[in-house]
Amino acid sequence: MTDKKNKLEHIAVIMDGNGRWAQKRGMPRTVGHKKGAETVKEITRAAGELGIKYLTLYAFSTENWQRSEDEVNALMDLLREYLKSDIKELQENGVRIIFIGERDMLATDIVEQMKKVEEETINNNKMVLCIALSYGSRQEIVNAARRIAVLFKRGDIEPEDIDIKMFSDMLYTKDIPDPDILIRTSGEHRISNYLLWQLAYAEMFFTDTLWPDFSRKELEQIIQDYQTRERRYGKV
Ligand code: FPP
Repeated sequence: MTDKKNKLEHIAVIMDGNGRWAQKRGMPRTVGHKKGAETVKEITRAAGELGIKYLTLYAFSTENWQRSEDEVNALMDLLREYLKSDIKELQENGVRIIFIGERDMLATDIVEQMKKVEEETINNNKMVLCIALSYGSRQEIVNAARRIAVLFKRGDIEPEDIDIKMFSDMLYTKDIPDPDILIRTSGEHRISNYLLWQLAYAEMFFTDTLWPDFSRKELEQIIQDYQTRERRYGKV
């Protein structure tokens, strides 16, 4: 991929359609999530091999807390399993893991495990896997505004000091570049409170494929298609 036209560092994904994938097969929704977790592994591996530097996956939104207790518990258990057993391969492949989202809503054992995984992978530099967990973009933006208000109240900044760079630095994603590509699976054409600030100039790709069926091949097709797009960032 040496003749790349567009810069491609960061792919963000809304992994949608796990529930429908299972329901279509007469199985409980949680089976779809389990299969979806397999796809997470396949796509992470593929992204690393394709030279993608940042991959951000929407694993659980702040709105997802409103799902049935059984489904929330199943998703949390999947996550526990992932944090315990699937990290080894990521470690071997030089993947650094970071999490974005509202940690205080998560169970203590999960938060501790997240911290541990972040610390253990901090020096890995092949790819950053960013997992959005209990994440909501509006809340992230509100939190940033609050932090800026505190700085102002303390007399540390003037209103003129607030600019795009400063605001970006107050977000969970402060250390990572904005996504170049957003992919949403399952035929829905929405952003669903995901990276609202960061997606300002991302190229959008919507596919009917349900997340458990999403494959490396389709990822490669999207990247190829992306390379034919003209990114203008608002310019002519
Ligand atoms: C959306 O599908 C998907 C989710 C809410 C959860 C995504 C979680 C995983 C892929 C597995 C766990 C993740 C990790 C990182 C191990 P949906 O349930 O809304 O599907 P539907 O729209 O068909 O109901």
